[in-house]
Amino acid sequence: MATRRIGIIMNGVTGRMGTNQHLVRSIVALRNEGGVRLANGDRLMPDPILVGRNEEKLRALAKAHGIERWSNDLAACLANSEDEIYFDAQTTTRRVESVSAAIRAGKHIYCEKPTATDTESALALARQASAAGVKHGVVQDKLFLPGLMKLKRVIESGFFGRILSVRGEFGYWVFEGDWQEAQRPSWNYRQEEGGGIIVDMLCHWRYVLANLFGEIQSLSCLGATHIPERVDERGHTYAATADDAAYATFELEGGIVAHFNSSWCVRVYRDELLSIQVDGTHGSAVAGLRECKVQSRVNTPRAIWNPDVPNPIDFYASWQDVPDNEVFANAFKVQWELFLKHVVDDEPFAWDLLAGARGVQVAELGLRSWRERRWVDVPDLIDEAR
Ligand SMILES: NC(=O)c1ccc[n+]([C@@H]2O[C@H](COP(=O)([O-])OP(=O)(O)OC[C@H]3O[C@@H](n4cnc5c(N)ncnc54)[C@H](O)[C@@H]3O)[C@@H](O)[C@H]2O)c1
Repeated sequence: MATRRIGIIMNGVTGRMGTNQHLVRSIVALRNEGGVRLANGDRLMPDPILVGRNEEKLRALAKAHGIERWSNDLAACLANSEDEIYFDAQTTTRRVESVSAAIRAGKHIYCEKPTATDTESALALARQASAAGVKHGVVQDKLFLPGLMKLKRVIESGFFGRILSVRGEFGYWVFEGDWQEAQRPSWNYRQEEGGGIIVDMLCHWRYVLANLFGEIQSLSCLGATHIPERVDERGHTYAATADDAAYATFELEGGIVAHFNSSWCVRVYRDELLSIQVDGTHGSAVAGLRECKVQSRVNTPRAIWNPDVPNPIDFYASWQDVPDNEVFANAFKVQWELFLKHVVDDEPFAWDLLAGARGVQVAELGLRSWRERRWVDVPDLIDEAR
């Protein structure tokens, strides 16, 4: 059994997602496990170089995680043929330029979503990567959450009968930054910096819906900026120019109706920060990040509307937990492993830059629906980018 090295240029790794999910919980975790097991039994050892603007931060981050290489010169990193993969978790508006440069340098691409803030640019990236013959992937982490993997298992068992509807409730209260520090970066609330919950979340809902239930055929979306003023990381008050809540309805192929509320202005009264309820003719399920519960038609209590008496039924009691039945790893790490095997062993990997562009398309159409106050159809993005 041999160990093979793979060089990964990691850009934007000092940020929230870059540090926690991609560096620490994925690449460092894989290194600590002795790398990824390849088809022939060899181990593939990720060898990252951390790239960013701030030398001090990079040096400290590298040192904290036993990484030897860091740089603030992206062009020089891209020129190094020893590093085959470029990874990008920078703020969204910087993605296209850097990913495009990496494709020109012949690197395989793995990056955060959204891949761009407009469909045309996202599609252009997919086409460029495809024409260059490099491999490419986009983070679609929610698919690898234990709760959603269990939900997929329930769907595949035929439990639901005919699926009728999907309702997603996502969000939590993000502090305004005045008397308690905000939990999210301030650019999220500035449209001109690529912020906004529609751009952020609708691309997630697109791949969740497409992979579990069916492609979105049309949508209606109402956005809102509920909190017009926030306080940034340096204590400065700023105008929130981006939407901080989105109320979106989707019609899927097969007639399934899906509705997702996404909000950074909601106080949580549910089991998890994301909750997806699926109702079918023969049963229902409620899935979260880690858990999934089901109720079949034979366990369905007879509800009768009568507010004149105290509610006689414990509606929660007749739901059952779907067991784990397997060991779940961090969702980002699972997808990283699949991408690395795609690059080295040519294993299939469906979540590419075209899939990323489809997510951007749904977000862009969501913004248009809100602006024009109407339903919009979602045309199929031509497969020519594959
Ligand atoms: N998959 C998910 O669930 C998920 C969740 C949150 C965010 N994201 C996406 O991840 C990306 C990063 O989000 P985040 O919350 O980590 O943001 P962040 O602000 O914490 O980090 C952004 C990173 O980009 C770098 N950066 C910003 N401006 C730069 C510049 N001018 N030059 C060079 N580098 C620059 C920062 O130094 C930092 O490393 C965004 O595209 C976001 O949409 C994905």
